[in-house]
Amino acid sequence: MSRAVNPPQETGTCWVNGVAGAVVDVFDRGLQYGDGLFEVMAIKDGRIVLEDYHLQNLAEGCERLFIPQVPVKLLRSELQSAAESQARGVLKLILTRGSGDRGYRPSPHARATRILSRHAWPTYPPGWEERGIHVRICDTHWGHNRRLAGLKHLNRLEQVLAQCEWGEQDNIQEGLMLDDEGSVIGGTMTNVFAWLSHGVLATPSLRLAGVAGVLRRYILERAEQAGMQTRIASLSLAELMQAREIFVCNSIIGVWPVVAIGHWKYAVGSVTRGVQIWVNERS
Ligand SMILES: Cc1ncc(COP(=O)(O)O)c(C=O)c1O
Repeated sequence: MSRAVNPPQETGTCWVNGVAGAVVDVFDRGLQYGDGLFEVMAIKDGRIVLEDYHLQNLAEGCERLFIPQVPVKLLRSELQSAAESQARGVLKLILTRGSGDRGYRPSPHARATRILSRHAWPTYPPGWEERGIHVRICDTHWGHNRRLAGLKHLNRLEQVLAQCEWGEQDNIQEGLMLDDEGSVIGGTMTNVFAWLSHGVLATPSLRLAGVAGVLRRYILERAEQAGMQTRIASLSLAELMQAREIFVCNSIIGVWPVVAIGHWKYAVGSVTRGVQIWVNERS
């Protein structure tokens, strides 16, 4: 298995509220309280892949967090101008509740801040997509919170601590996170799917914890269109252990088959290969 090649950590090009620059007010609630949302999007041939799904995630997130909506037309035009000259790349859009006075209570006058950054397309070893990855079960758990579950909000300390659990010297490419009851929630930066022995494509319910990624939604939709039986429910470690195939996904990595979770070993099977084809077809 090849070693991790860290994607280039360049700072990229930034725009704050549509203006080029990388300076944000220190009183912005995104910084003060993690009071905001984000989406990370793939650019392909000058276009944003699954753009509508990402915009829907942001709109739903704003509604759930009572962050004033930013007109979709404005977001779309800023995203499109950042993407149009690029053959391949990554766009990260952060929406915060904006700047405010000291104290948690949001001001009724707050206006969302838009922080958009563009980054080079990361280069992962191709073996990870082709031959699969090794995964660890993290000691850091994902806390339950119905109000936040599913959202890609800015409070990501659980994922930060989980990724601190392994180092460059370990042959680990992703960590799976459980809740306090031992149910699988997702990867530190990915959603997880298991192809179970009775022919069901299962992914954890995100009612209590987790991030409802765009690629998870796309894969579920394609699976349902293809007449596959899908299941969104609590997923136990015992089920994971006995799964025929496991894969993780997000908008940037696409789909990585999982070939080992600790000592449990898996093959890269035809279901995972089929999902990779769907994912490479997305636009
Ligand atoms: C914790 C976590 N889970 C899952 C995902 C996958 O989301 P998406 O499919 O929208 O890229 C992300 C992406 O940032 C994430 O941070």
